[in-house]
Amino acid sequence: MRETILLVDDEQNTREALSIALGREGYNIIPATSGSEGMKILEKESVDLIITDMIMPGVSGMDLLHFARERHPDIMVIMITGHASVETAIAAMKDGAFDYVTKPIKLDEVKIIIQQAADKRNLLLENLLLKQELKGKYTFENIIGTSKTMQEIFSVMARVVNSDSTVLITGDSGTGKELVAKALHYNGLRKEKPFIAINCAAIPSELLESELFGHVKGSFTGAVANKSGKFEQANTGTMFLDEIGSMSMALQGKLLRALQEKEIERVGGAKPLKVDVRIISATNTDLEKAVKKGLFRDDLYYRLNVIPIHLPSLKDRAEDIPLLAAHFIKKYNDKLNKKIKGLAGGVMDYLVAYDWPGNIRELENVVERAVTLTDGEYIMESALPQSILGVSGQEFYNVPQIPDKGTDLERELEGFEATMIRMALKKSGGVKSKAAELLNLKRTTLIEKMRRLNL
Ligand SMILES: Nc1ncnc2c1ncn2[C@@H]1O[C@H](COP(=O)(O)OP(=O)(O)OP(=O)(O)O)[C@@H](O)[C@H]1O
Ligand SMILES: [Mg+2]
Repeated sequence: MRETILLVDDEQNTREALSIALGREGYNIIPATSGSEGMKILEKESVDLIITDMIMPGVSGMDLLHFARERHPDIMVIMITGHASVETAIAAMKDGAFDYVTKPIKLDEVKIIIQQAADKRNLLLENLLLKQELKGKYTFENIIGTSKTMQEIFSVMARVVNSDSTVLITGDSGTGKELVAKALHYNGLRKEKPFIAINCAAIPSELLESELFGHVKGSFTGAVANKSGKFEQANTGTMFLDEIGSMSMALQGKLLRALQEKEIERVGGAKPLKVDVRIISATNTDLEKAVKKGLFRDDLYYRLNVIPIHLPSLKDRAEDIPLLAAHFIKKYNDKLNKKIKGLAGGVMDYLVAYDWPGNIRELENVVERAVTLTDGEYIMESALPQSILGVSGQEFYNVPQIPDKGTDLERELEGFEATMIRMALKKSGGVKSKAAELLNLKRTTLIEKMRRLNL
């Protein structure tokens, strides 16, 4: 079924002729004989498009347009006008009508306009959906952490999210700096406006200035056309200056001026442009140290560091590891179409003991890999990379405590079984018949168990 069209015209002939013709095209037509009847239909039916006559007794086409724009701004409105009222039709377009057709109506013309209106509406809805998805992805709830340091970070974020304060996010690689920057943008006042990120370390320093501020044609070799910079693209929104620590001293001066004056100059351009941009920057280097060494301007540092947010390394908030692991298992279950319930008994110990130099990004990668490798319901230690299994040195299965919400005995037993088998294999130098003997099992039973446990 194609779009549903509300067709409003007090003239019976036009109404019927259009209803039949458009119905034949596959549209679902709801006819109405007056503006007020049209309004009533809009209240209870779901309509994609409106085609309405301009001049009708009582509620006019203009009135209906205003009513629809106010309550259902996603509905496209097409006006029908007599030759005499083309000027009002143009006024209607200023008020948000999609287009107009003049009487006598040419069917081909109407069909094309309807198609264009339908396309535009679909695009609008798609964008809306995308935006909502994006917002869902960067809600505060998707930043996982119940440790004290994370709670403090959330409270700072909550305080500054609806302001234009300049934020400097510090933390090691993979601690979530970009995630926090996006959450601040997509939950703040500028959420409908652009979020523009630039990685200052990824762009050669001689090109960074033009990336940031744009350039005019001919200002340097390779500047073949005028180009807008990230600052202009971020206007009214947020700019994320990632790896700010690697910016050259010369450019730091220009950036400082741009922030102070709230205006930028394209490379080679004479006239400065006003910009309104919220700045969030991030670094995994110690900027304070860089300032002391004379590698980073102190005046710029103070301007960027109005609100500091320091993200802890994962090993300093190991209590968040189980929650993060569960979060990523769910994420990759959905993505890879798996139904993994969690980690087998004992496997979490490895994750908690490991020191995670790559922080959350590394944990996410490890979980993604494990989810990919696991066909059963629980992730076994065999699905973890050697680097993680190595450090724990765990030989004995820790009898787990039963948490208040209960546990799963089958899962715990599988973990216990896997650990025992692993130890027997180690003791037997990998010889399966010997390991089976150590466990008082038949060799075939051992092999069957190993297959089931993914060892
Ligand atoms: N608290 C968290 N909860 C859930 N996911 C997180 C959290 N922190 C980080 N992540 C995820 O970890 C990955 C790395 O995060 P991000 O890219 O923000 O780190 P970064 O600090 O910018 O790292 P780098 O310095 O290497 O650029 C991303 O996939 C992000 O979604
Ligand atoms: Mg980053």
